[in-house]
Amino acid sequence: MYYPEELVEEIRMKNDIVDVISGYVRLQRKGSSHFGLCPFHNEKSPSFSVSRNKQMYYCFGCGAGGNVFTFLMEYEHDTFQEAVRALAERAGVKLPEADDSPEARQKESRRARLLSASKEAAKYYYYLLRRQEGEQGMKYLTGRMLSKETIHKFGLGFASKYSNDLTRYLKQKGYEDELLQEAGLCTIDEKHGTHDKFWNRVMFPIQDGNHRVIGFGGRVMGEGTPKYLNSPETPIFDKSRNLYGLNFARSAREDNMILCEGYMDVIAMHQAGFGQAVASLGTAFTQGQAGLIRRYTKNVYLSYDSDGAGVKAALRAIGILRECGMSGRVIHLEPYKDPDEFIKNLGTEEFRGRMEQAENSFLFELRILERDFDLSDPDGKTRFQQEIARKLCGFSEAAERENYIEAVAEKYHMGYENLRSLVVNHAAREALAARGNRPVKATGKKSASKDGGRWAQRLLLTWLSEEPRLYDKIRKYITPGDFTIDLYREVAERLFEAIEQGSLQPAAIISQFEEEQQQREAAALFHTKLPELARDKKEREKAFHDILVRVKTYSYEYDSARMGSDLDALSRAVAGKKALEELKKTHISLD
Ligand code: GTP
Ligand code: MN
Repeated sequence: MYYPEELVEEIRMKNDIVDVISGYVRLQRKGSSHFGLCPFHNEKSPSFSVSRNKQMYYCFGCGAGGNVFTFLMEYEHDTFQEAVRALAERAGVKLPEADDSPEARQKESRRARLLSASKEAAKYYYYLLRRQEGEQGMKYLTGRMLSKETIHKFGLGFASKYSNDLTRYLKQKGYEDELLQEAGLCTIDEKHGTHDKFWNRVMFPIQDGNHRVIGFGGRVMGEGTPKYLNSPETPIFDKSRNLYGLNFARSAREDNMILCEGYMDVIAMHQAGFGQAVASLGTAFTQGQAGLIRRYTKNVYLSYDSDGAGVKAALRAIGILRECGMSGRVIHLEPYKDPDEFIKNLGTEEFRGRMEQAENSFLFELRILERDFDLSDPDGKTRFQQEIARKLCGFSEAAERENYIEAVAEKYHMGYENLRSLVVNHAAREALAARGNRPVKATGKKSASKDGGRWAQRLLLTWLSEEPRLYDKIRKYITPGDFTIDLYREVAERLFEAIEQGSLQPAAIISQFEEEQQQREAAALFHTKLPELARDKKEREKAFHDILVRVKTYSYEYDSARMGSDLDALSRAVAGKKALEELKKTHISLD
């Protein structure tokens, strides 16, 4: 569905960005902006800013930024159209009826088409599972004690034995080979043509937080390798930023989440009444996933396999959770291998009991660490205790560290004072070592030519968006054509046009791009940090002039390099040289 620009702009203006983002992130006012912890990367002090004047947000830590639509696209993984619809509803703006003609479909963004192909594929697998062809799959799933409701709830399906079954079906629905390949549903090779990625497997559609199908896991029925086949990463399937089961877990109304290893674990847990269970997507747990969980709760239970690999994975996950300011608790499943088996054998109440007894993750780490030392040997014991002291130094908050020293001293019969002095000594040694080899200060400045004038172009756009009246003084010298990066040029065109019409709204410029990545980059153009050195007027004027000359110089060099092959470039270069010479001689006042 394609919405007219004026309508999009009306919706944007009716949704104040500070109000909308406040619904997701705790913001505090600081000067003319609001600040909070960035929801798009993990940080301890706020570098995420939201400006009511600009109606934009920007993170000085990770570079995420945009207008109110971009925010929903990034946070909720919405497409542009979905974000428009959600905000229209929020503001009570009526939208025209959806138009799903083939022409309108063609206009949908690439992302939206990938999502719709994945959804059609999931519907098709779901349908096959309930047909004669899917009988074996249904038998397998019910054999694993899944109820009809559970199979329905998770949208489980079946990929047929006949290769190309899905591709044929989706092509007839109007999706082209290349799109299906990009969605990870088929592969194309020169010799054999198009091939379904999945066949003869039970299918687990993977959904994002808003129930949109973004990928699949396919399991063999019984033994066989690979046991699971997973969709590759695609523009809609980012394995490090999604969690299996999160679409249900986010509204489970529990004060915790349970992190498992496998799809089957999550499904079995949900069936047993633990709607807060999630799992990573066939890869190790990541910071991005920890950040997702942190939006809902800080209490994480780890329910990993009880074997060696599971313990190793749990240790890694604990480290990641801790880096993101969360503490985990480890659920012990012995004598069973994983939550799925545990539930099957002992049921819901016993699992709840194990949750109550879950082990503090720091004590779990120490218990595993202990295995590497021979505690009957005095040396071994000393080294173990020193290792404990080293790990205790990792708690940066004094109160927390004290509590742990107390708990650990008691558990390992060490004597509180003894352990405490080990910790203090260790911290002192670390501090001394750090003083000896302080890193050389990095200068970090890029030369203008090395970054292709990119930085100067950004600075100029930010400066003009903050002081649009300056445009009048420089329009003689600078045109959008001087911006050599496509996106910058498009932004410059829109910016200059808006200034000329006296209606500059940087946030409106952002919505003219449909892809999240473009919106993010465009937003960065309005948030470049202007030179801080320039304190007084004279210095500011010099800085501004330098930027102009740099942009113009680079644009001239860029055109000259293309003169040989491009006649337009030749005339642009000639004009550019003239303008540059004049600019160099001209004083531009900022008054
Ligand atoms: P069941 O064996 O059916 O109970 O599955 P499970 O969900 O318990 O899986 P398991 O604990 O063996 O593995 C955990 C997760 O790792 C799975 O859910 C998959 O995401 C992933 N995984 C397991 N085996 C494979 C494999 O052979 N290939 C790939 N790519 N991923 C796998
Ligand atoms: Mn299992």
